Amino acid sequence: MFVISRPDGAATRRPRPLPLATRSLHWLTAGLLAIMFALAWTFDALGPSDTAASLVSLHQSLGLLILVVVAARIAWRVTHPIEPLPGDTPRWETRLATLVQALLYALLVAMPLVGWYASALSGDTIRFFGLALPDLVAMNEDRSDQLFELHGTIGWAILALTALHVAGALNHQFIRRDGLLNRMRIW
Ligand code: HEM
Repeated sequence: MFVISRPDGAATRRPRPLPLATRSLHWLTAGLLAIMFALAWTFDALGPSDTAASLVSLHQSLGLLILVVVAARIAWRVTHPIEPLPGDTPRWETRLATLVQALLYALLVAMPLVGWYASALSGDTIRFFGLALPDLVAMNEDRSDQLFELHGTIGWAILALTALHVAGALNHQFIRRDGLLNRMRIW
């Protein structure tokens, strides 16, 4: 930790960056998620076309990649606990931050699994960057439609939780001014 000064003149300790693997996995997930939503909204807007089909295929491959990245993140996080939030953070805020993070992890596992299952039920052969995965389930269009609806709902929940997560980070950066964002710095 190193010392920074606050507008009220009080000196505070700026938290050190987390390990490079933690930060890399965090920003890789964030970047992939942004691409996933951009792809989904674009192929939705395009309607049936060759371009939309290519974007869906890329969405499926990147979605499976997110599953691998999030599994690695969870394994890393379980074996490398991070330091608690600064001591003067109110207890309700710490609890809310922990809950939001746990829900994000859970939904980031559920989202690709639901998308994968729904796609398989629609009769699609799922490819991971060109490599065809085995068809494990029989086609069932009604079930597929239901699961795609769930896929969309989980998507909105991920966006809402991400907004809360970002609001928490901005609160630490600009209101509490405790330098917490430094823990997740990119460089
Ligand atoms: C974290 C990973 C993922 C995110 C954030 C994500 C996000 C989304 C979103 C926001 C939509 C639009 C939903 C709507 O129309 O309301 C969508 C649609 C879709 N997703 Fe995903 N997805 C993910 C993983 C996957 C995976 C792994 C697959 C398949 C292997 C997949 C297959 C699809 C397909 C085929 C659609 C189009 C559904 C339709 O025809 O309406 N997704 N996804």
